[in-house]
This record gives sequence, structure tokens and C-alpha cells, in this order.
Amino acid sequence: MGQARRFGWLAIPLLMCIPVLWAGAQGTPPGGAAPAGQGAPAGGPPPGLVLKFAAPDAARGQTLSRSCAGCHGPGGVSAQASVPGLAGQVPSYTRFQLSVFRAKLRPSAVMQGVASRLSDQDIADLAAYFAAGEPGPAWAADPALRARGAALFQGGDNDRNVIACAVCHGEDGRGADRQGIASVTNLAPEYGLEILHEFRDTPRFGVPHPDAMRIALKPLTDDDLKALAAYISSMK
Ligand code: HEC
Ligand code: HEC
Repeated sequence: MGQARRFGWLAIPLLMCIPVLWAGAQGTPPGGAAPAGQGAPAGGPPPGLVLKFAAPDAARGQTLSRSCAGCHGPGGVSAQASVPGLAGQVPSYTRFQLSVFRAKLRPSAVMQGVASRLSDQDIADLAAYFAAGEPGPAWAADPALRARGAALFQGGDNDRNVIACAVCHGEDGRGADRQGIASVTNLAPEYGLEILHEFRDTPRFGVPHPDAMRIALKPLTDDDLKALAAYISSMK
């Protein structure tokens, strides 16, 4: 499958979004200075989104994670189709989401409450713990729907300016920590469909965040989103 087909012309504005995945997700590393080359926008992100933490302690994260297991499953492997698993998630993404819940920028009454009780160090330790886990097992999916989702995810659709999801998320769907790109492998299916609709259909949250997903999903139909949710929830 050629790169040209996977990218389409949309790749240019989209990939320009990536450097804007600034230091918020990365946090301030031990030693203080913000990471170079993360492309922080002028003025910097709102307070509370740049985390300050010492080297993450996954063992401490494991202890803290006990309070998450009731919803996200033991070890962050979700058995509820409407709740995302956390196991195997890239740490920059988990940190960023917890910080935006805490700042009440990403909607979810439940998670805003949970995150309000977490310190920067708690967030870093939890993210390190979950990142070390393996994503949960594949969810069952309708084969025809799944095949359609697989084709879109891996190859895009040049005629409709759909960029292949794999360009950013990887062929295995495991994302990229440095760019804050989420792992989507075996994402709980109902949650997956809901979040795809959220990216495509709702006004952006007040998050100073790139619009990569919003641009990527714009040309997609409801049926495409269903097919993609079926595919990513059942990746091998
Ligand atoms: C009462 C249930 C509940 C508890 C307890 C809970 N969560 Fe959640 N969490 C959810 C739900 C539901 C969502 C999906 C929110 C949405 O609709 O966008 C979520 C979303 C998340 C996300 C975003 C995941 C993604 O893929 O975008 C992260 C990260 C997260 N939770 C971390 C945690 C951590 C860490 C804890 C424990 C400290 C925790 N949660 C405790 C229910 C819960
Ligand atoms: C240009 C890069 C790019 C492309 C192309 C892209 N994504 Fe994403 N995706 C991201 C980034 C960055 C995030 C994290 C967004 C955030 O932090 O709000 C993300 C987040 C997601 C999430 C949320 C994960 C979670 O746990 O809540 C899903 C699902 C997703 N992408 C699926 C897709 C699908 C399906 C496609 C193809 C139609 C796609 N993405 C194309 C960059 C991309």
C-alpha cells in the first residue's frame, strides 16, 4: 500500500498539527526545564496542564490504581464496553487526559471528580503504571463491519480525503508517546464509537489541543465511524 494513497492531500495540514502536541502531555521532566522541540505555542498552555513530577513510580501508580479498577477493570483492562481500558495506553496521553479532566476542560462528571483528587505526581505514576500493561483482549466484532473499518484504518480513502488512521496511530494502533497519540488497540467499543462522534460532531473542548482528530474524522460518515469502532476494538 503506497504512502501516497495512505496520506492524501489532507496529510499536510494534519501533520502540521502534530508539533503542536506540546509539552502539556509530556510534563516537566525531572530537572525542571521544559522539553525542547515540543513546539509549545507562544504564551504556553493554561496552568494545571503542564505537570511537574519526579521520575514516575509505577509501583506507586499501581497502588493508586486500585480506586480506578471498579470502572476501568483490574489492571486497567476494561470489561465494560462503555468504559475505556487504560492498560497499554501511552503515558503522555493518559497524563494529558487526566490533566484536562482535572482542569474541567474535558467533559465527564465522573472523571472530573476522580481527577480533582490527583496530584501531578499521582497522574505521572498512574500513567507509568498503566503504560506498562498490555491492552486488553480483542472485543467481538461483526466481520464485515470490521473488514470495512480495517481498510479505512490501514489505507484511508483517497477519493474522499480520508487519511489512514495508521499514519498517526501506527498499523498496530499502539499510538506514539512522544506525540501524545493515543493507543487505540482494543478500545472498548461503545466508548470508542462515542469518542469518535465527540471528535467529529461536538465543538472542541476548551483544550488547547491540536485538531488532528477533528480534521481526520471530518469526511467520515456514521457508518464509517461504526466500522472503525468495530475494527479498533477488535485489533489483534
Ligand atoms: C466511576 C467510574 C470511574 C472511575 C472510578 C474512574 N474512571 Fe476513568 N473514566 C470513566 C469513564 C466513564 C470514562 C470515559 C469518559 C468519557 O465519557 O469521555 C473514563 C475515562 C478515563 C480516561 C480517558 C481515557 C481515554 O481513553 O481517553 C482516563 C485516562 C481515566 N479515565 C483514568 C482514570 C484513573 C487513573 C482512575 C483512578 C484514579 C479512574 N479513571 C477512575 C470512569 C471511571
Ligand atoms: C494526524 C494524526 C491522527 C490521525 C490521522 C488520526 N488520529 Fe486519532 N488521535 C490522534 C491524536 C493526537 C489523539 C489524541 C487526541 C487527544 O488527546 O484529544 C487521537 C485520539 C484518538 C482516539 C481517542 C482514544 C481514546 O482512548 O479516547 C481514537 C479512538 C482515535 N484517535 C481514532 C482514530 C481513527 C479511527 C482515525 C482514522 C479515521 C484516527 N484516529 C486518525 C491523532 C490522529
